[in-house]
Amino acid sequence: MEMQELAEQRDIVIVGGGICGLATALALHRKGIKSLVLERSKTLRSTGAAIIVQPNGWRALDQLGVATRLRRTAITIQGGHYISLADSKKKEIPIGNGEVRCLKRTHLIETLANDLPVDTIRYECQVVSIKLDPLTCYPVLQLHNGSYLQAKLVIGCDGVNSVIANSIGLNSVKLFCTCVVRGLTNYQNGHKFKPEFVVMSKGRVQLGWMPMTDKLVYWFVTRQWTSQDLAVSKNSMLIRQSTMETMKDFPDDMMEMISTCYLNSLHLTDLKYRAPWDLLGNNFHEGTVTVAGDAMHAMGPFLAQGGSASLEDAIVLGRCLAQKMNIMNQRERSSIVKMMVEEALEEYAKERKMRIVWLSLETYLIGKMLDAKSVMVKFVIIIVMAVLFSDPIGNTRYDCGRL
Ligand SMILES: Cc1cc2nc3c(=O)[nH]c(=O)nc-3n(C[C@H](O)[C@H](O)[C@H](O)COP(=O)(O)OP(=O)(O)OC[C@H]3O[C@@H](n4cnc5c(N)ncnc54)[C@H](O)[C@@H]3O)c2cc1C
Ligand SMILES: *[C@@H]1O[C@H](CO)[C@@H](O)[C@H](O)[C@H]1NC(C)=O
Repeated sequence: MEMQELAEQRDIVIVGGGICGLATALALHRKGIKSLVLERSKTLRSTGAAIIVQPNGWRALDQLGVATRLRRTAITIQGGHYISLADSKKKEIPIGNGEVRCLKRTHLIETLANDLPVDTIRYECQVVSIKLDPLTCYPVLQLHNGSYLQAKLVIGCDGVNSVIANSIGLNSVKLFCTCVVRGLTNYQNGHKFKPEFVVMSKGRVQLGWMPMTDKLVYWFVTRQWTSQDLAVSKNSMLIRQSTMETMKDFPDDMMEMISTCYLNSLHLTDLKYRAPWDLLGNNFHEGTVTVAGDAMHAMGPFLAQGGSASLEDAIVLGRCLAQKMNIMNQRERSSIVKMMVEEALEEYAKERKMRIVWLSLETYLIGKMLDAKSVMVKFVIIIVMAVLFSDPIGNTRYDCGRL
């Protein structure tokens, strides 16, 4: 095809400059491998205020060489509890003795991006489709402005509505009935909260919060998605107002936390997930095209693990690719050999599969329990969870290993 002969050619292209895309580019860079990140937005994007990072996520950040800097920005959480307002019952939320902190998303994204060589990220560059070149069998990306880019390896880190995931045979994501509002509140004179993660619930509404620094607190509210929410989600004032309405039975200091939050930190999002059985039956690559992060395993946020799992993907993918590329001698290295890349992707997929299947199964069950209207269904899910996930912090013990 004439178009494709004229296309720009690259070795490794990462689609999407979110947590996963940037972490993957950085993992490769640490191994001396160059990549290009295509990001559709104008600047670095960090929707969702803050992100909880658990021990497995910190292990990945340590491997990327950015953990020390990020640790300085947030306090460690020492414990947690759950309070039911209906019957005033209090229950411990196990945190373990590992490291849990809540980071500003902008800090995480900027720290990852700052360690990348200049010109690694190309902004305002949206990928609209991907095809395989019939001659070379390498992927060709079609960009928003009609031009093409040919790559030897494409890594789709383009989030929950991934264009790349469809091309490797993953089914589309599904929706939970629950939605989440997230925000940040700054207390000028310091807040009174202990370094704990607390969840308070009344009926189907849950409020969770966690301090980030002496002054800054991250909170979220989960509730049922309603038909007005699409319109509400576009306007911060409406998000705040509707959240205050859902929370009217909550204590005054909690109401104050919401009424005094940073308006521009507010986000209302529906919750999408990829079915665990969909992950079980997929190879996660087609030729030299693969996926990572939410594009691969979008999951409900109930374990606060989506971001950390994306960081793990980056480490494992970086390691698998680097091992193969070290086998090739320095001369050949400049042109990646297709077979080697495919072998690396196979190893990556094999290593990640059961980890993400278990994470998505656990989040799937929690999500379905929140969605369930029938007590019977809830009960059955609780039993299944108790059998399969008897260690509540088992998911945080995972170690993705060295880069
Ligand atoms: C309510 C909620 C709370 C959460 N809380 C936590 C938490 O506490 N801890 C945790 O670990 N995880 C949490 N998560 C999950 C976490 O946010 C995600 O797993 C993580 O952001 C995934 O990163 P990503 O880079 O894969 O995708 P994204 O962050 O979605 O990034 C995708 C990037 O790709 C770009 N892009 C998309 N399509 C294209 C295209 N066609 N061309 C070019 N660029 C494109 C987008 O602009 C974006 O920058 C939460 C999620 C939700 C919804
Ligand atoms: C399309 O966009 C890419 C990068 O975003 C740029 O390199 C290319 O020159 C553009 N093509 C046209 C035809 O404008």
